[in-house]
Amino acid sequence: EQTGKSGYDHYMLKEIHEQPRSLRQCLSGRLDELDGRITVEELDEFDTPNSVQFVACGTSYHAALYGAQLLRARGVPANAYYAHEYATGPAPVSADDLVIGVTQSGETADTLSALRTAAGRGAETLVLTNVVGSTAARECDHVVYIRAGPEIGVAATKTFTSQLVGLNLLAARLSDGGSDRRRGLVDALRGVPNGVQAVLDESEAAAVVEEFADSEAFFFLGRGLDYPVALEGALKFKEITYEHAEGFAAGELKHGPLALVTADTPVFAVVTGDGETARKTVGNVKEVEARDAPVVVVTDGAAEAGRYADYVLEIPKTDERLAPLLANVQLQLVAYHMAAGLDRAIDKPRHLAKSVTVE
Ligand code: G6P
Repeated sequence: EQTGKSGYDHYMLKEIHEQPRSLRQCLSGRLDELDGRITVEELDEFDTPNSVQFVACGTSYHAALYGAQLLRARGVPANAYYAHEYATGPAPVSADDLVIGVTQSGETADTLSALRTAAGRGAETLVLTNVVGSTAARECDHVVYIRAGPEIGVAATKTFTSQLVGLNLLAARLSDGGSDRRRGLVDALRGVPNGVQAVLDESEAAAVVEEFADSEAFFFLGRGLDYPVALEGALKFKEITYEHAEGFAAGELKHGPLALVTADTPVFAVVTGDGETARKTVGNVKEVEARDAPVVVVTDGAAEAGRYADYVLEIPKTDERLAPLLANVQLQLVAYHMAAGLDRAIDKPRHLAKSVTVE
């Protein structure tokens, strides 16, 4: 087994470190460096849909939330639904709409069921998946592969970042974005593997989590594209540490969750970019800091959130659509190092399965 882990203590850590390579594989042949075009061969003949509905579970649902925002920013109406909710209570859908399943395994029963419900109502279906020949790949009208390579750890890591990149490719392909905007995205996408490598080389996540050995609960905040990353940070953390962790939309803090914030509840805030979204999250960082919570910001530094934090986990500056991906890598390391410190069964957390094939 040691060989399988290439010298890493766990598959999860190995897979975290494989990301620069898995992301390069995902991008291979899909970016045209000369004219800034994005090509998704599988979708050569595809027209822009009227609207897009994403269906997914778990980590893939967080990717779907991110993908829906990317499409809406490009003027395509899009929403993300939990697959199990959609399967029994679908949104109105017709032949001009596209329903996209996001599922790394292509075998999650809830997601297959939602896709079948959508197909039964006449929608076109597409799956974004990692597994060639999986049930979803066989059943959907279209399939786009994320090419992350096999993932053994139950906690999804490299498949999530490849989903985020795959969703950027899909969003560009499915919308009418001008080539100038695409060129910016193409350059940024090309830089992502190196950005991830820089995070892996320089992360201080291991030292930061050592400070929190006695904490009661852990909160993760973000808004906009940082919101799904906050949710994913909390999910990864609870899956492998067994500690109580919750992800919140930063703007919801004042509508309830703030009551939970104390000096014993570290708050991880994801703050990327320097627009209005980031500035508003900095306001939330100040609110939790005023309640004495230890604050860790995961940031590219643009919004100066670090001024109000006890700890900063830095990410390199990049395009606003891709900064959340780099922030996610810091949060993967946060979860991993906390779980390693607690000596948890990181690759096979209790009660969880890599792929859930029953509804
Ligand atoms: C299981 C796994 C999660 C995963 C979810 C969806 O619950 O434990 O890590 O996110 O299934 O899996 P999928 O293969 O559909 O992406």
